[in-house]
Amino acid sequence: MVSVIVHDTKIDQMETAILVIGIFENERDFFASKSLDSTIFAAIIELIEKNEFKSDIGSNMIFHMIGKGLIKKIMLIGLGKREKFTYENARIIAGKAALKAKELGVEEFCILPFIDVDEMLIEAISEGILLSLYSFNRYKTSGKESTIPSRVTIVVNSDSAKFQSVVDKVNLIAQAVNYARDLGNLPPNDCTPSQMASFALALEEYGIKTRILERYEMESIGLNGIVSVGKGSSNPPKLIVLEYQKAEHQRPYLLVGKAVTFDTGGISLKPGDKMDEMKFDKCGGCSVLGIVKAIASLGVHINVIGIIPSVENMPSSTSYRPGDIIRMYNGKTVEILNTDAEGRIILADAMAYGVAKFNPQAIIDLATLTGACIIALGANVAAAIGTNKYLTESVRKISEKTGEKIWDLPLHDEYHEQIKSTVADIKNIGGRPGGAITAAAFLSNFTNDVPWVHLDIAGTAWTQEGTFERSYNPKGATGFGVRTLVKFLMEATNK
Ligand code: BES
Ligand code: MN
Ligand code: ZN
Repeated sequence: MVSVIVHDTKIDQMETAILVIGIFENERDFFASKSLDSTIFAAIIELIEKNEFKSDIGSNMIFHMIGKGLIKKIMLIGLGKREKFTYENARIIAGKAALKAKELGVEEFCILPFIDVDEMLIEAISEGILLSLYSFNRYKTSGKESTIPSRVTIVVNSDSAKFQSVVDKVNLIAQAVNYARDLGNLPPNDCTPSQMASFALALEEYGIKTRILERYEMESIGLNGIVSVGKGSSNPPKLIVLEYQKAEHQRPYLLVGKAVTFDTGGISLKPGDKMDEMKFDKCGGCSVLGIVKAIASLGVHINVIGIIPSVENMPSSTSYRPGDIIRMYNGKTVEILNTDAEGRIILADAMAYGVAKFNPQAIIDLATLTGACIIALGANVAAAIGTNKYLTESVRKISEKTGEKIWDLPLHDEYHEQIKSTVADIKNIGGRPGGAITAAAFLSNFTNDVPWVHLDIAGTAWTQEGTFERSYNPKGATGFGVRTLVKFLMEATNK
């Protein structure tokens, strides 16, 4: 992977293939413009004044420095209007610059921060670089060779050691995001529940204790929701339990991630159109693996339990059916009316199990749970639905910093009416109105009143129809939720 370095040497002494400089609209001043070599400075000013370079956001221009200078090329990149500039812009623009540098085939490049430097800015710039250069090419037998820059230097004018430690953290987190993306992008023939379990077991090298519950164990302790959904596939279901306990006398945070390695809908079969995208139905689980990996590699002093129910939802003569009634792990009964509403069933068992075994202080689940979530919020915003305002609001607040957009939906009593069953306690679908919320209402039956927030990442877990293009989210799985929840957990230790 790329390594990002923070340096505070003089710009005119830096040797680089490309120096990236951001320019605000209608401005001649830019970061460290005063300390730049005077011929370079004059050239840039001329381009701005003659309007040859327009600084609207993301615009881009490269010119060669003729002669023997240490800087071979300059890349100007538009920052738009200064008053509208955000850290998310910095993330996107740094990502664009990195992609452009990759296109040019350079080994390394340098970038000037766009505004006065603080930790959030360094974080955003380094995230943009590390996340945009991700690509999934495991299955390409040719064309893999394209060089990506191996070293990127952020040039600051002071405190490089402090900023380097920020970058070192970002580096570990970005690695975890890219790891979650790698797993999410795997095709369903190479990522069965057993393979998910092997990936989780490999995390032991980070000091994470991993345990896999096999089907027979799940049957014997009554995890009948997971067993039922998994029955239709010859790839047996697995329940993955990750333990990272580094704080004494603290109830853990419980993270639960849906990992349906392929969702055909089961007997309530989905239409064929875009069914291939249902390989991404494991992304919640992949993000949980990424979060726990990041927390462990950062050595955060906290207790985190990750639980990932993993199944393949297939139609066959052994599948569960519409009409079945399942007695769940916590004793509640569920009438199945649509086998395509499988995520809530496996999550419900996993949450109830986690609550019973680990007595958590809070539960956060991540799941590509409903198409209705995409109808409600689109493909760029995840839904947060929960039972605790404080928890939901603190996750949402952090998402404003990370750029992983999250918005909350209500969970009023009326929604619970929609999932009452005539023959069992509840049914697994609540009709079309408010589909993302009735799914959450279903889950709330399995939290045992522990503060809980559910994140429906159906629209944001991978780039799909309606996804806004962002340099740092290459096509495919996005690793959504990793950055936000790692930040949430890191901040939770400071309270
Ligand atoms: N995995 C899907 C949800 C989904 C669909 C995510 C499309 C992203 C894109 C989930 O298991 C599902 O099939 N949900 C059904 C629920 C319905 C049967 C109540 C849905 O949303 O259609
Ligand atoms: Mn489904
Ligand atoms: Zn699903």
